[in-house]
Amino acid sequence: MQRTLVLLKPDAVRRGLTGEIISRIERKAGWSITALELRTLDQGTLEQHYGEHKGKPFYEPLVAFMASGPVVSMIVEGERVIEGIRRLAGPTDPIEAQPGSIRGDFGVITRENLIHASDSEESAEREIKIFFPGRG
Ligand code: PPS
Repeated sequence: MQRTLVLLKPDAVRRGLTGEIISRIERKAGWSITALELRTLDQGTLEQHYGEHKGKPFYEPLVAFMASGPVVSMIVEGERVIEGIRRLAGPTDPIEAQPGSIRGDFGVITRENLIHASDSEESAEREIKIFFPGRG
């Protein structure tokens, strides 16, 4: 059993796609959402979350975009959920993403790629502590 941190980014919230995306996650057999919150992220939270990318060209625009409106943060638990949600999301660049994936169906530009999901067990535990300190 694994758990992962999922963020539905401000573009997903603005476009009214959170229900659709949550529904895709909920329909997977054996996965469940065990924490869920809607809030606009502050600078400190974003710096902690994306700290490893500081200095990369996309860092500043990414942080500004992520602070531009409310985000849905969730813990999702289940069998092979870390790799599973990343596959459900599709690759970072939505144009590379297959139809049927979240980014393939709804995304076009890389910055506004709708969803974040932890990429390993270590990242999941680190990110869950940032977004849900009581659940760390
Ligand atoms: S890296 O350098 O390979 O580790 O980067 P990657 O894992 O692909 O992406 C790390 C996060 O940065 C986002 N990203 C971008 N945002 C805006 N513009 C551009 N060009 C860009 N490239 C990557 C990417 O979506 C990742 O954020 P999360 O929240 O994890 O999806």
